[in-house]
Amino acid sequence: MTQYSPKVALVTGTGRGIGEAVALELARRGLKVALVARSQSELDRVAAQIRETGGTSMSLPFNLAEVEAIDELVGRVEKELGPVDVLINNAAIAGPFGAGWEVDPEEWTRAIEVNLVAPFRLTRAVLPPMRENNWGRVINISSGAATFPMARAGAYSTTKAALDMISRQFGVELEGTGISVISLYPGIVDTAMQTEIRTQPVEKIGSEMSERFKGYHSSGSLSTAEPVARIIAALSGEAGQEFAGKVINISDPAVQALLNE
Ligand SMILES: NC(=O)c1ccc[n+]([C@@H]2O[C@H](COP(=O)([O-])OP(=O)(O)OC[C@H]3O[C@@H](n4cnc5c(N)ncnc54)[C@H](OP(=O)(O)O)[C@@H]3O)[C@@H](O)[C@H]2O)c1
Repeated sequence: MTQYSPKVALVTGTGRGIGEAVALELARRGLKVALVARSQSELDRVAAQIRETGGTSMSLPFNLAEVEAIDELVGRVEKELGPVDVLINNAAIAGPFGAGWEVDPEEWTRAIEVNLVAPFRLTRAVLPPMRENNWGRVINISSGAATFPMARAGAYSTTKAALDMISRQFGVELEGTGISVISLYPGIVDTAMQTEIRTQPVEKIGSEMSERFKGYHSSGSLSTAEPVARIIAALSGEAGQEFAGKVINISDPAVQALLNE
């Protein structure tokens, strides 16, 4: 049987960090990539890199908190690039920081929209053509924070735990369809999000979290985004079938083996 060859990817949070590296890697592998983030200048920088290497991208400056506009966003991608074969739900915000009784409830709700409702709505929007093709990949970039209450960043761990359940839920509902929805814990990666957390005032995030994140940096434990991107790109191809509906950690040996793909 001939293998399906994905042509179009939509990657959120592509202005910097893990999302930027994923967009560049997928473009290098020949996919047309739709780039989504709020910052136009950061999208322009990534689009220029893709263009320089002969790839194709489409920039969509967009705030994922505007969840009602997500169907239209996907419609624009389908019109310009074609149906989405690969969706990488990567964009997320780490805040608001503070105990549950201290944070602004509206900021908390915004985090739920960006980190959880937007990935769900994007997944729903890309599924119809994937179901027609009997092929699709949705990779939800989750976090180890899904597995424990991240004190003073409760919206973040709440959304990541729920995102994992969404991956598992779609895994059950899409069994046997050729569509894989996967949650990946990317490890600790040297990005703006890490900098944002470790530079928060101790009063906001508490001494345990502050010390832990400063320690990741000072001990040289942070990885670069490129190997994470190579694993995500491999999961976006045939290898993703094996992990359908699963919650996986980048440190798992079976996941590390994807670096050879
Ligand atoms: N870095 C780590 O150590 C680590 C660990 C575990 C999990 N993760 C997960 O990995 C993913 C990527 O993280 P990262 O470290 O690469 O983060 P990052 O450097 O902060 O980048 C986040 C990206 O998301 C975009 N974004 C944020 N809010 C948005 C919104 N409302 N609408 C549209 N785009 C938005 C940002 O662009 P704009 O601000 O311009 O919108 C940016 O391009 C996240 O899901 C994160 O939870 C990271």
